[in-house]
Amino acid sequence: MTILVTGGAGFIGANFVLDWVAQSNERIVNVDKLTYAGNLHTLAPLANHTQHAFVRADIADRGAMDKLIAQYRPRAIVNFAAESHVDRSILGPGEFIQTNIIGVFTLLEAALAYWKGLDAEPQAAFRFLHVSTDEVYGSLAPGAPAFTENHRYEPNSPYSASKAASDHLVRAWHHTYGLPVLTTNCSNNYGPYHFPEKLIPLMILNALAGKSLPVYGDGQQIRDWLYVRDHCSAIRRVLEAGVPGQTYNIGGCNEKTNLEVVRTICGLLDENAPRADGKSYSEQITFVKDRPGHDKRYAIDASKIERELGWKPAETFESGIRKTVQWYLDNPGWAKDVISGDYRDWVHKQYGT
Ligand code: NAD
Ligand code: DAU
Repeated sequence: MTILVTGGAGFIGANFVLDWVAQSNERIVNVDKLTYAGNLHTLAPLANHTQHAFVRADIADRGAMDKLIAQYRPRAIVNFAAESHVDRSILGPGEFIQTNIIGVFTLLEAALAYWKGLDAEPQAAFRFLHVSTDEVYGSLAPGAPAFTENHRYEPNSPYSASKAASDHLVRAWHHTYGLPVLTTNCSNNYGPYHFPEKLIPLMILNALAGKSLPVYGDGQQIRDWLYVRDHCSAIRRVLEAGVPGQTYNIGGCNEKTNLEVVRTICGLLDENAPRADGKSYSEQITFVKDRPGHDKRYAIDASKIERELGWKPAETFESGIRKTVQWYLDNPGWAKDVISGDYRDWVHKQYGT
């Protein structure tokens, strides 16, 4: 048996692939375009591993997708591939439309053609799992109930609008053509191998490099944080027991303001890698121009996946963030390798220095 994942050289996809190989004997085929966010260093432990096959390809390339699916005949496809950074989507939405909408459409068409040709038993067992985000639901007012699966779609950024479009395509391919799809909408992830354009790894690495810690606006925006390996275990569970056509919200019940997150990181670094001058890393915090259209608050109601599939996160924010900070302290080489010329250009465009 084989599963095919897309975007498995990115942050969540690579964690999923590494966990999969550690926990299952089933082959995993990993298809990734290797954009700036895809990183083969993360997959180095799997070099020459017979259970893992890596293929560089674009999900928007129908010929490549047909060929791969025909070659590996997967029992499931898990789609992680996406352009994923909100700030990049504001500066240049084109790639987000191309991968997150056209790419998902192309992958659905390839999956559907393959699925239609399967015999009854593998056809009934086949799954197309689409990994999506809580950002499709928009922004919550303070005190408003957390997002359930029935919350209206109200995406506010080019990124979340492109993910919302992809969710609608996935839904339609089920209702119209019968493709057995599953959609997951998850809150903010953090953990090992997180690309340093995102809040948590950016703050850890900037702090250690003696750079400023750029908090957008007043830092009072709220995100609901989930340790990445908990997201991976939720996806495995949905793949195993989710009902085709259903969507499942995934979250950690860890609502924090951005400023709280940054201060927690500073505290852990003060404890584990104190500054030479004895001062706190929090002295490096600077308040910078806010993100345009910045969503104020996300919060996930994950009661459906707990009730129906028995999934719960293993980590609290306190345990997960401690592990994460320690991982970045223990793996300086990983971050050094991903900080390419492209990354440096991006930092210059976004932060001006
Ligand atoms: P990421 O940006 O770290 O990785 C994305 C991966 O997809 C990269 O390896 C990249 O090379 C690959 N990719 C991009 N375009 C491609 C294409 N056209 N064809 C094939 N591969 C392509 O993203 P991530 O944070 O790991 O997110 C993975 C998925 O999870 C995304 O769909 C994202 O929307 C969703 N998600 C992310 C979070 C989060 O907090 N990071 C939370 C909820 C949902
Ligand atoms: O909610 C799920 C989403 O979480 C995923 O779908 C996205 O792919 C993922 O990137 C993430 O989106 P966010 O925009 O919430 O994550 P980001 O790490 O970019 O920012 C988290 C918060 O921190 C957000 O309110 C903006 C703020 N921020 C971010 C950066 C990079 C800062 O204050 N300063 C920064 O330099």
